[in-house]
Amino acid sequence: MNKVCVLGSINMDLVVKVNEIPRIGETILSKSFEKIAGGKGANQAIAARRCGAEVSMIAKIGKDENGKILKSKLEEDKISTECVFEDEKEATGMAFIMVNESGNNSIVVVSGSNMAINEEEIDTSIQKIKEADIVIAQFETAEEMTLKVFKKAKELGKVTILNPAPAKKINDELLKVTDIIVPNETEAEVLTGVTVNNLDEANEAGKVFLEKGVKFVVITLGSKGAAVIGKDFCELVPAYKVKAIDTTAAGDSFIGGLSSKLDFKNINKENLIDAVSFGNKVSSIAVQRKGAQPSIPYLKEVKEVYGDY
Ligand code: ATP
Ligand code: RIB
Repeated sequence: MNKVCVLGSINMDLVVKVNEIPRIGETILSKSFEKIAGGKGANQAIAARRCGAEVSMIAKIGKDENGKILKSKLEEDKISTECVFEDEKEATGMAFIMVNESGNNSIVVVSGSNMAINEEEIDTSIQKIKEADIVIAQFETAEEMTLKVFKKAKELGKVTILNPAPAKKINDELLKVTDIIVPNETEAEVLTGVTVNNLDEANEAGKVFLEKGVKFVVITLGSKGAAVIGKDFCELVPAYKVKAIDTTAAGDSFIGGLSSKLDFKNINKENLIDAVSFGNKVSSIAVQRKGAQPSIPYLKEVKEVYGDY
């Protein structure tokens, strides 16, 4: 059983279903509104846990009702929340999400307490990093804190996985302590300057990450699957053909699934492709269900659909 520690966000998602995402200046009507547990960090933690990993989170909520609800969701899934801190001032993170008829979304995140996690709290969380095999982070918490956690993780010989989402330019120092980077096409373009529309371009973007010190690159390509790139290979691992109804947390369920399956002691082309293929299975189920955390399948469900692996 892999031991995974996730530094990341916890958000309450406020989700409206729309026919089409409105254009600037346009007002539209929606018939449905729901509050759903989300946040990239929490979604990835839940996906790893539901797929069989032992998981802890380093995160921060506000002193409010959303925070209490979201923390209890993690606990229901038996994720360690000892290092989920409470901020005195900032409210728990929120995400405003519009989902259209074809299941695609537009998201605005109000980070709140997620960005308030500080050095002292990271120091208090070192034990969780020590206990983990794999440490995962995204861009919904402060970059300096991710750098601190990844440096510590590498000092301790852990595997680090960076999901650079939402897209932003960063200090390359973080890439030197990243073993596997998992961007989508847009994030890959923002960080490398290479537009990714096909496998050759994914390979080109992948090489830029490798030159900056990352060991392996997995670029997710939505319904096309994922490109896996290492020093001397680039392979497409195709997605499963399903009818997507809501792609929220597609990337998160993919990363959580991948981390639960990764042979972290000896990562190579074959076993990374295996883990990516498992990630594709997990996310193919998540995109057929509504919302973030409720859409993430348990290992039993993945096996029911795809058989043992
Ligand atoms: P999101 O931001 O919506 O969570 P993302 O942009 O981070 O997603 P994607 O590249 O869209 O990530 O998707 C991640 C993975 O989810 C893909 O590699 C694929 O395995 C799976 N996936 C996404 N969309 C579909 C789809 N329509 N059909 C099947 N699998 C899908
Ligand atoms: O990746 C999906 C997540 O992004 C949502 O749950 C939302 O909270 C935003 O963080």
